[in-house]
Amino acid sequence: MFRSAINPLLLLVLTTHTYAKEMTEIEMLASRPTRCTYEYAFEMYGAHCGGLRLSKIPSLKGGIEILDFSDNKLQEIHADTLSSYSSIKFLYLSENTIYSIHKDAFAYLTNLQTLDLSKNVILQLTDSIFQLPSLRKLYLNGNPLLHLSLGGMEINKPIKAPLELLDLSDCKIKILPDFGILPQMVLYNISHNPLVKLDATSFSSMCKLTKVDLTESIEHIKLCDLKVSIMWFQERKVSFQLADYTQLNSKEFQNCPESNKPDNLNASYHICQNAYTEIQSVTSYRRTWLTIAGGLFGFLVGFVLLLYIMHRHNVAQTKKTTKAINTAPPSVEDRNATAILLNNAA
Ligand SMILES: *[C@@H]1O[C@H](CO)[C@@H](O)[C@H](O)[C@H]1NC(C)=O
Ligand SMILES: *[C@@H]1O[C@H](CO)[C@@H](O)[C@H](O)[C@H]1NC(C)=O
Repeated sequence: MFRSAINPLLLLVLTTHTYAKEMTEIEMLASRPTRCTYEYAFEMYGAHCGGLRLSKIPSLKGGIEILDFSDNKLQEIHADTLSSYSSIKFLYLSENTIYSIHKDAFAYLTNLQTLDLSKNVILQLTDSIFQLPSLRKLYLNGNPLLHLSLGGMEINKPIKAPLELLDLSDCKIKILPDFGILPQMVLYNISHNPLVKLDATSFSSMCKLTKVDLTESIEHIKLCDLKVSIMWFQERKVSFQLADYTQLNSKEFQNCPESNKPDNLNASYHICQNAYTEIQSVTSYRRTWLTIAGGLFGFLVGFVLLLYIMHRHNVAQTKKTTKAINTAPPSVEDRNATAILLNNAA
């Protein structure tokens, strides 16, 4: 009896198991979601549209803070493509075939912190990306056509984006663009580019820089032409990544002259430091005021609550007294008063 009850269940488990095993690749593909899914993670609401082979961004729910549209077939970003999603903080557009970006494409995304445009075919980059007021991380790596416009691009300096990470790796760049002062930049990835020179001035205006990735990017530069930058990295404790360090340890490198060191390096470094200090003080000023405002608000709420409790207490007290008066037997004087009143009426 017990046995016969358990057998059908076992059979069911076995059949589902074999079924799952025999699911073909086409079935797997068909079972993948075909529309964007929504998820609440890290206290943020996100839309996930990755790998859906979409050529345009569908109409999405408002209020999303994350949009993953990577691995699709988007080609152009127009001024209105993203204009209704101003709440987006993290935007992933890697592995599409984006070649054209309108100059106002991200204009409404004032909360945007991370923008991933890697592995596309961007022809012309717009300066407005560097003016996004909250942008900290920008990935432009793997855009083989980007170098065509990057050199001649007019960048309004100082740029407004508080960039901390900039990835320009694998973009066929020969000469690094001049971004001006980048006071909050920490990681600069310029690996896998055929650089023809490495000016120390490209780094001296990044005073918080801790890492530069130069892997397979300096092979075309004469050894002695690297000296000033390498010495700058050592002086300012910037770690730099290379595919091979043997050349830097050679006698030849040690004997390179140091004479042609530009004297504006320290100057731009200090301008950057001043800008950084200013940002820090603005942030702490804001924090102080927020704390004060928060404290004041808390006090007010507490005060109002206290008033309310006192009010409730008074109401209860009054009710109690009224009730006590109503239920108490009339005193002798009261009875007399009633008698007098009745007499007067009569
Ligand atoms: C820099 O970019 C390359 C290629 O895109 C990547 O492999 C590497 O990990 C990056 N380096 C750092 C320090 O993130
Ligand atoms: C630049 O600053 C460094 C460290 O503060 C100092 O050692 C160096 O002499 C300065 N160079 C010039 C040209 O002032």
